[in-house]
Amino acid sequence: MIKVGMLGFGTVGSGFYEILKKSQARLQKKYSDSVEVCGVMVRSVDKYADLAKEVLVTDSLEKLLESKPDIVIEATGGVDGPYEMAVKVISSGIHYVTANKDLIAEKGKELRKLAEDNKVRLLYEASVAGGIPVLKPIRECLTGNTISSLAGIINGTSNYILSCMYDDGSDFADVLKTAQDLGYAEADPTSDVDGLDAGRKLAIMSSLAYGVDVDWKNIKIEGIRGVSSSDIEFAKSIGYKVKLLAVSLDTENGVYAAVTPCFVNSTSYFGITDNVFNAVMIDADAVGTLVFTGRGAGALPTGSSVYSDLEDVLETVVFGKSRDNELHIGGDAKAVLNEYPISSEWIVSYDESLDSLLTDQLINSFEDVGLVMKKNPSWKKVYFKTGHISELALKDRIRKIAGEQAGKVKIYQVYE
Ligand code: HSE
Repeated sequence: MIKVGMLGFGTVGSGFYEILKKSQARLQKKYSDSVEVCGVMVRSVDKYADLAKEVLVTDSLEKLLESKPDIVIEATGGVDGPYEMAVKVISSGIHYVTANKDLIAEKGKELRKLAEDNKVRLLYEASVAGGIPVLKPIRECLTGNTISSLAGIINGTSNYILSCMYDDGSDFADVLKTAQDLGYAEADPTSDVDGLDAGRKLAIMSSLAYGVDVDWKNIKIEGIRGVSSSDIEFAKSIGYKVKLLAVSLDTENGVYAAVTPCFVNSTSYFGITDNVFNAVMIDADAVGTLVFTGRGAGALPTGSSVYSDLEDVLETVVFGKSRDNELHIGGDAKAVLNEYPISSEWIVSYDESLDSLLTDQLINSFEDVGLVMKKNPSWKKVYFKTGHISELALKDRIRKIAGEQAGKVKIYQVYE
């Protein structure tokens, strides 16, 4: 029997457990052995009386390790506690699969080194985009490519909120409250709506894709709190939607990486990715552009990604297949650039209260790049779309004209 220990039994853990139970006949056939959960570690044992009828349920990691798991699956949240557990498990020579994006974004480098030293596998497909296969294609299917860019809608909560704002014109705060009441958004939504969750996922993907160490703390991150209903109404009026995009590009000068609300054409791949769905676009030299889309959260979708990592590890446990390549990914740190290095169109908006002399100058200054301008009495804002210009040049121009009032001018990238 191959034994699996589990840390955490929340949404993802229970989804994984259900898939594992259903897969028994197939596993037996493939590996000529049974694969069973030997124990589950949870914080409050009392809550899991039913589960305890099937497997060992404990609040002690030592107890779980006494049951001699070959593989440990972690599906908890946070960094410090899970890191301590991961160190203990990996140092005991046990393969480790985690769905914990916070842990991998913060401590991935250390854990990869520890896994390498202990000759065990460390996999984390479920940490990015839930049920959508993203890391494995990067790691295994695209090895003959140089990946030049990644872009994605990788936070379901903010995508759900922006979709509702687009559909019924409601304000961010009202939709957030409804999403919380319905259980779609966490009671503390900071990490989702302020873009931190997407930033961590972007760092994990980018480190793998470019073979460098991208620290999520160096990524430019702006969430969706500042997206107003008039921003969305203006976007709609010109055939666009506002989406929280996580974008990275590998350049000679460093990796550009940012999470920001962007305008996307409403019929584009990102434009048709609504509600809690996620989408990831990869540009690579040999294969061209790939788009992966599907459910970025939820028990069975995320459980499915955890399960696929389990089968990867089973190939090592049963057939001795080595996967040294995954341990070396995420090499040296590379500078993280915060300004989009390619010329692009932009949406510029400012409050009607901005000095009228400045607004005239602002609009006139963009005549050379072309513009679509709109205002509407209920918006109390003026919007215009520029032609192609670099982010640096755009900001520079705004700063020169608006001076101290530059903070009142808001920009959105038009992502093509
Ligand atoms: N809170 C995350 C989201 C869950 O909204 O996408 C999946 O990581």
